Amino acid sequence: MKTLKRAKISALGTYVPPRVLTNFDLEKMIDTTNEWILERTGIHERHIVDKGVASSDLAVGAVKNLVERHGSRLDDVEAVVVGTVTPDMMYPSTACLVQHKLNLPQAWGFDVSAGCSGFLFALQAGAKLVESGAHAKVLVCGADANTRMTDYTDRTTCVLFGDGAGAVLLEPAEEGEIGFIDYAYEIDGSGAGSLYMPGGGSLNPSSHETVDKKMHYIHQDGPAVYKFAVRKMAEATAKVLERSGVTGAELGCFIPHQANKRIITATADRLGMDPERVIINIEKYGNTSSGSIPLAMETAIEQGKLKKGDLVLLAAVGAGFAVGAALLRWEI
Ligand SMILES: CC(C)(COP(=O)(O)OP(=O)(O)OC[C@H]1O[C@@H](n2cnc3c(N)ncnc32)[C@H](O)[C@@H]1OP(=O)(O)O)[C@@H](O)C(=O)NCCC(=O)NCCS
Repeated sequence: MKTLKRAKISALGTYVPPRVLTNFDLEKMIDTTNEWILERTGIHERHIVDKGVASSDLAVGAVKNLVERHGSRLDDVEAVVVGTVTPDMMYPSTACLVQHKLNLPQAWGFDVSAGCSGFLFALQAGAKLVESGAHAKVLVCGADANTRMTDYTDRTTCVLFGDGAGAVLLEPAEEGEIGFIDYAYEIDGSGAGSLYMPGGGSLNPSSHETVDKKMHYIHQDGPAVYKFAVRKMAEATAKVLERSGVTGAELGCFIPHQANKRIITATADRLGMDPERVIINIEKYGNTSSGSIPLAMETAIEQGKLKKGDLVLLAAVGAGFAVGAALLRWEI
C-alpha cells in the first residue's frame, strides 16, 4: 500500500491565441460602448482564436509553455485531465486529443465539464489521483475556445468571453511541503437554465431548426448568474477558510475565476481581503472559462503576489451551476 501524500502543483504554463478583440472593435460590430463594457465587467480586450483552432490546441500551447518554463518531462505523465466546456467535438474527449498531440502514449485521461469551474474541478480530480497514490504525475489543463460558441449579434453575452488555456503538473508533495490543503465543491442543477448551450446534445441534436434558433451558442441570464456567483463564491471560500482555520489576512493572494470584476470585488469584500492581494486580469482576457484561473496564477506570479510558500485561495462559479473553492500552499 502506497503512503498517502498531498498533491502539489509543480509546474505552470499558459497560452492565449495571438488575435485580440478590443471593446473598440466590438463598438463597430454591435450596439455597445467601451465605457459600458468596462464599467459593467472590467473587460477591455480579449484574445480570440482563428477558425480551425480548437480547445485542444490551446491546451497544447499551455503545456508547451509549461515545458519551456520549467524544463518538465512529460514522458512520465500518467494521466491527463482537461477541464473544458468547449470540447473540440462531442467525442472523443479533448483529453484524448491533447494526449495524442503531445505524444503521451503512456497516459490515460478524461474531460471534466463544469462550466467556468472546469479548471478547479479538473484540478481536484487530478489532485485526488495523486493523493490516493494511484499516480505520481498528472497533467491538468483548463482550456476554452468560448468565442467559437459566441453569438456576435447578442450584445449581452458576446462582450464577456475570450479564449485561453492553462496547464499544471501535479505531483506528490515532498517531506515539509504542503500542496493542497482543503476544498469545497458543489453543484446545483436548478441553475441549468441560467447558463447553457442547448443545441448539439442528445436533447436537441443538431438540425436546421437548432441552427435557425441559434441553439449552438452560449445562452445566459446575466443578472441571475451574477447574483448566484456573488453569493456562492463568498460561501464556498468562507467554508474552506473556516474549516482550515485560515483568515483572509493570512492569504498570500486570492485567485478567483475572472467572469466579472464586480463579482470578484464583491467576493473579496465579503472575505475582508486586501484588494492588493486579489488577482484581477479580466481587462486583458475577458472570461476564458477554464483558462481563467491558471491565467490569473500567471498574472499573480508576474506581479510578485504569488511566491513559494504562500497560501493561495482559488474559487470559481460556472454553468451548472458548478461552484468550487480550494486552498493550497504554493510550491513553485
Ligand atoms: C452580463 C452582465 C455584465 C450584465 O450587466 P448588468 O449590470 O446585469 O446589466 P443588465 O443585464 O441588467 O442590462 C442593463 C442594460 O444594459 C443593456 N446592455 C446589455 N449588454 C450591453 C452591452 N454590451 N452594451 C450596452 N448595453 C448593454 C441591457 O440591454 C440593459 O438595457 P435596459 O436597461 O435598457 O434594458 C452581468 O449581469 C454579468 O456579468 N453577469 C454574470 C455573467 C457571468 O459571469 N457569466 C459567466 C459565469 S461563469
